[in-house]
Amino acid sequence: MRSLEQVLKDGIRDVPDYPQPGVVFKDITPLLADHSGFAQVVEALAASGKDDDGTPAVDKVVGIEARGFILAAPVALALGAGFVPVRKQGKLPAATYAESYALEYGEATIEVHQDAFAPGDRVLVIDDVLATGGTVEACLRLIRRCEAEVTATAVLLELSFLPGRDRLAGENVSALVTV
Ligand code: PRP
Ligand code: HPA
Repeated sequence: MRSLEQVLKDGIRDVPDYPQPGVVFKDITPLLADHSGFAQVVEALAASGKDDDGTPAVDKVVGIEARGFILAAPVALALGAGFVPVRKQGKLPAATYAESYALEYGEATIEVHQDAFAPGDRVLVIDDVLATGGTVEACLRLIRRCEAEVTATAVLLELSFLPGRDRLAGENVSALVTV
C-alpha cells in the first residue's frame, strides 16, 4: 500500500492560471479517480471524528458544497454518522440559517437547514481545501446557531500562504497535507 503522503502527491495536481491568471489551482480530481487513494483519504479524514481509541465520536458529518460533499458523504458512512449538507444560498428547500463570508475569489453565502441537527449533536466538518478560512468560519457559525457542537474540522489540503489557519485560531482544524 502507498503511504498517504504518496497518495496525496500522486493525486493533487497544479493547474496554472485557474480560475484567474497568476493563481495555481490545486486540483484533486486525479485523487478522486484513484479508488485506493480515495479510500485512504476518506479513512484519514474520518480519523478526526474518532476518539483516541478509534471509536467513532460524532453524530453528524457536515460537507460544504460542492467539493466538500464528495469527501464528507463517505466519511459520514465510515463513521456511522449522518450527513448534513451546507449549501450555497438558495439551494436548500426548508427553513435555513445563512452566513455570508469573503472568499478568495469573491463573496458568498452558505446555508444549513435549521433542523439539520439535534441540540448537542457532535459534528465533524469536512471540506477539500482550507484557503482564507472564510468558508469554514461561516460554516462553524451555522452549526453553532443550530446549537450543535463542533468536534473538529478536517480538510484534505491547506494552503499555508493564505490566512485560514490564523483565522481559525482556537478551533480544532487538521489537514492531511499543507502546501
Ligand atoms: C472552495 C473550496 C472551499 C473553499 C475554501 O470552494 O472547496 O470550500 O473554496 O476557500 P476559503 O478557505 O478561502 O473560504 P468554492 O466556493 O470554490 O466552491 P466549490 O467547492 O463549489 O468549487
Ligand atoms: N484549489 C482548490 N480549491 C481552492 C483553491 C485551490 O487552489 N483555492 C481556493 N479554493
